[in-house]
Formats: sequence, structure tokens, C-alpha cells
Amino acid sequence: MEKKVLYSAVQPSGNLTIGNYTGAIRNWVKLQNEYECYYAIANMHAITVRQEPAELRRRTVELLALYIACGVDPAHCTLYVQSQVPQHAELTWVLNTMTYVGEMERMTQFKDKSAKHAENINMGLMDYPVLMAADILLYQTDIVPVGVDQRQHLEIARDIAVRFNNRYGETFRVPEAYTLKEGAKIASLQEPTKKMSKSDENPNASVYLSDDRDTILRKFRRAVTDSDNRIVAAEDKPGVTNLLNIYSAFSGCTVAEAEKQFEGKGYGDFKLAVGETVADVLAPVQAEQKRLLADKAYLNQVLREGAERAYKAARKMLSKVYRKIGFYQGE
Ligand code: TRP
Repeated sequence: MEKKVLYSAVQPSGNLTIGNYTGAIRNWVKLQNEYECYYAIANMHAITVRQEPAELRRRTVELLALYIACGVDPAHCTLYVQSQVPQHAELTWVLNTMTYVGEMERMTQFKDKSAKHAENINMGLMDYPVLMAADILLYQTDIVPVGVDQRQHLEIARDIAVRFNNRYGETFRVPEAYTLKEGAKIASLQEPTKKMSKSDENPNASVYLSDDRDTILRKFRRAVTDSDNRIVAAEDKPGVTNLLNIYSAFSGCTVAEAEKQFEGKGYGDFKLAVGETVADVLAPVQAEQKRLLADKAYLNQVLREGAERAYKAARKMLSKVYRKIGFYQGE
């Protein structure tokens, strides 16, 4: 049986946290054998907010190396950089003509980002969901793994696909959302009722995948807990619950098993154990990422091959779209 097509992408902006690792990166690895996966580094999306060019370039290769270090296998998926496949921009233009300004203005993320970057509400920011629709629709994608924050974008991609198909005849496959069986969300170590974020202003709130062992241990040592000393998951103990969730995600045991393991221990020992477990999982990943980053020839080859593979599929699809809408392509 043909494998279903799965599409996912990540923006090369900001510092990835351990929440990105358990919530997104590990899923890419898990899904790559079950589906025909297209995994993109969405640098065209990233420039909808200001980026420092040298940093954008550096983050792009770092992200590529990180994903490979985590187990994404370029031989088993199509791993590429979005801007290297020109059809993304080309299809976006066509889809723009079938998308209404009003519906883009109503998108939650556009409204949030407009408020946050009031000095730079550019056309690309508003067009972000259409570019994302083009990403997905170019590859006859069946499923898109999405967290809550990208759900509305996937809905728009579906609407655009249906709209196009109704006007020009069956062309695009209408993608389905794939809700990840996500483990518990990882929260901020300082405000454990908030999600751990790439861009928290408090440097102790988030553990980054690039943090070294000492930094990791220090951040966990400073993690907020509470005044009673029981290591159990409970609604009124968000700090301890978060640490148990992190421990569970990184050690592979369940929260109940972790509770049992730490029964009778103090918070100090507990936090040290969580920090050590996280650091032990990240150490080999960081070492492998570093090794890969020193091998630019290999990384460039991965990107060249990924872009070529994506290009072939995308070119076929775009040509079909051009035919449907009446763009002359020779007879
Ligand atoms: N917007 C997504 C994010 O920030 C990244 C993305 C770009 C994406 N294109 C996509 C995700 C296509 C899924 C499918 O997380």
C-alpha cells in the first residue's frame, strides 16, 4: 500500500526548548517511517518578522543538524529548506487570488503578531497562512501534525483547497489534521501555569536544547515548586507536576512511576535528578549536532538532495495548477 503523505515544517527562528524537543522534534522521528514525510525548514515564513540575515542563515543549518542529530533520517524523508523550492512562492501567488483579505485579517496569529510587531505589519505577515497552504498543498499532503496554535492555519489550507477544487475541478488533496498524542505540555520553570516559550524574558524559565549541563542543572535547581514537600502531580502543584512531566518525557517512565521513585525524597534531590536526566538525554544530541555542523559538505548534500526531491514533486503539482487555471505552458 502507498504510504500517506505527511507534511510538517519548522521556522528557523528563536532558540528551541525542551518542549519543542518532546512536542515536535521527537514526533518527526517517530512519523518518518510510517508516512511519506516532507519536512521543511520554513525560512520564508520566518522573514515575516525581522531576522538578522547572518543569524537566519546560521539557525537554518543548526536546525538541520539538530533534526538529523535527533534521528530524522534524510534517507527516509524529504528534508529541505523552503526557499530552495521556488514553487512555494509560485503557488502562494495563485492561492492569494483565491483568498480573501477579510479572512486573513481575522486570523488569530495575524492579530497577535500584529499587536506584537506593530511597527512591522507587512504583507507577508498577513499572507503567512497562504504560504503555509501552498507548502501543504504542493505535495498532495494527506495529513499535517498540528498543535493548537496551527489549527486555524490548517483549516484555511483546507478551505483554500476545497475552493480551488470547486472552481477548477479536483486538483488538490484536502489535508487532515493529525492531532499528536502529545505528552503533557512542558511549562515554564518559573511560571509553571504558562507554556515554556522560546522567547521568555526570564532566562531561568526555559531550558534550551543548546544549554550545557551546568546551565541545565542550575535552571532546574531554581525551578519553582511549592511549600509542601510531596512529589506528586496535582492541579494545585503546577511546578512539581511540570517537573514530573519533564522527568517522564525524558526518562520514558510514567508520571505514576516517577512519583513512586521519588517518594519520600526532598525537592532538592528531585530537581537534581530531573536536571541530570534531561542533560543526559541532550548530551549525545548536542555532540552529534556539533559533529554534523563541522561537516558542511554533508549538510549541503542533504539539502541539495532534499530540495531536488521536493522540487520534482512540487513542479509536477504546480504545472497541474497552471494548466487548470489557464496559464499557457506551451502546447
Ligand atoms: N507555521 C508553522 C509553525 O510556526 C510552520 C509551518 C510552515 C508549517 N509551513 C507549514 C507547519 C506547513 C505545518 C505545515 O509552527
